[in-house]
Amino acid sequence: MNTVELKNKISEAKKDTGTVILAHTYQDPDIIDIADITGDSFFLSKKAAEIKAKRVVMCGVRFMAESVKILSPETETILPVPSATCPMAEQILPERVREYKKANPDAQVVAYINTTAALKAECDVCVTSSSAIKIVDKLKADEILFIPDQHLGSYVKEKLPDKNIVLWDGFCPVHALLTAEDVIACKKAHPDAVFAVHPESPAEVVKLADMVGATSEIINYAKSQKGKVIIGTERGVVDYLSTHEENGDRFIQLAPEKLCCEDMKKISLQDIYNAIIGEGGEEIILPEELRKKALVSINRMLELG
Ligand code: 13P
Ligand code: SF4
Repeated sequence: MNTVELKNKISEAKKDTGTVILAHTYQDPDIIDIADITGDSFFLSKKAAEIKAKRVVMCGVRFMAESVKILSPETETILPVPSATCPMAEQILPERVREYKKANPDAQVVAYINTTAALKAECDVCVTSSSAIKIVDKLKADEILFIPDQHLGSYVKEKLPDKNIVLWDGFCPVHALLTAEDVIACKKAHPDAVFAVHPESPAEVVKLADMVGATSEIINYAKSQKGKVIIGTERGVVDYLSTHEENGDRFIQLAPEKLCCEDMKKISLQDIYNAIIGEGGEEIILPEELRKKALVSINRMLELG
C-alpha cells in the first residue's frame, strides 16, 4: 500500500472507530498531516484535558500517552509503538523524590512533563518548557527541587535568581549533544540568520541564542522573522516549518546529525493504522490511585501555567 492509500485508510478507520489522533510536532510530516491535533507538550496536555473521544492514538513518546490517560481516564489511549519512550523521563526514581521530600518537608518538587506517571505522582507540580518560568515563579516554597532536566532547570534558575532551586542532573540525550562550536559554525555559514533554541540545550548554547523557547514558541518566533532562522531543536520543527510556511528554505537546521530524537521517530503510518483498528500498539493502563496523584500535579500545571 502506498502512502496516499494508507492515509485514506487511516482517515476511514478514524471515523469508523471514533478515534482522535494527537501528534507532537517532532513527528514526521506524514503523521502531522493525518493528525487531528498537533502541537508541543503544553498544548497537547491542554487538549488532552478537553478530549471527548472514545479512543486516542498518541503519536509521541510514552509520557505523552500517559498524560492523556491521566487527564482523560475514560478514553482508551494507545501508544502505537510501546518502545517509544523519552529517556529523560526515567532519569530519577520515584524513591529518590520520596527521600528528598522526607528530608526537606518544606520544599516543593517540580517535575518537567517529560517524566513517568509514577514520578508525577510524587511531585507537587508539573511544568512544560513553555510554562516552567511562569509556574516556578509562582511557587512560595523556600526550596524547589527541579527534576529531571538540569539544562531546563538551570535556565529557569537563571531567570528567577531569587528562588532557591536545586537541580537534578538529568538531561535530554538529544539536545544535550549541542555545543557552542555547532552554533558558531552554523552562524558562520549563515551570518545573516538569527538563532532560536530549546531550553533543554546546554547553557553554553542557550547563551548564544537570540530566542529561547519551547517548540511552539520557536515556531511562532521563526514565522515572525522575515529572514533566515537557525533552529536549535529536534529536526521535526524544521520539517514542520518547511512544509507549513512559504520560503521554507529560510529555516536552517542546527547540527542535523545530532538533533534527531530516535524515540520520537519510531512511529510509522502503518503503526498508527494498526493502533486504530485495535491490532497494534499498547493501551495505557494506570493504577487509579497513581493516576489521581499524578493528576494533582498536572492540574496544578494547567491552573498555574
Ligand atoms: P516541548 O514540546 O515542550 O517543546 O518539549 C520538547 C520535547 O523534547 C518533548 O519531548
Ligand atoms: Fe525526550 Fe529529548 Fe526526545 Fe524530547 S527530544 S522526547 S526530551 S529524548
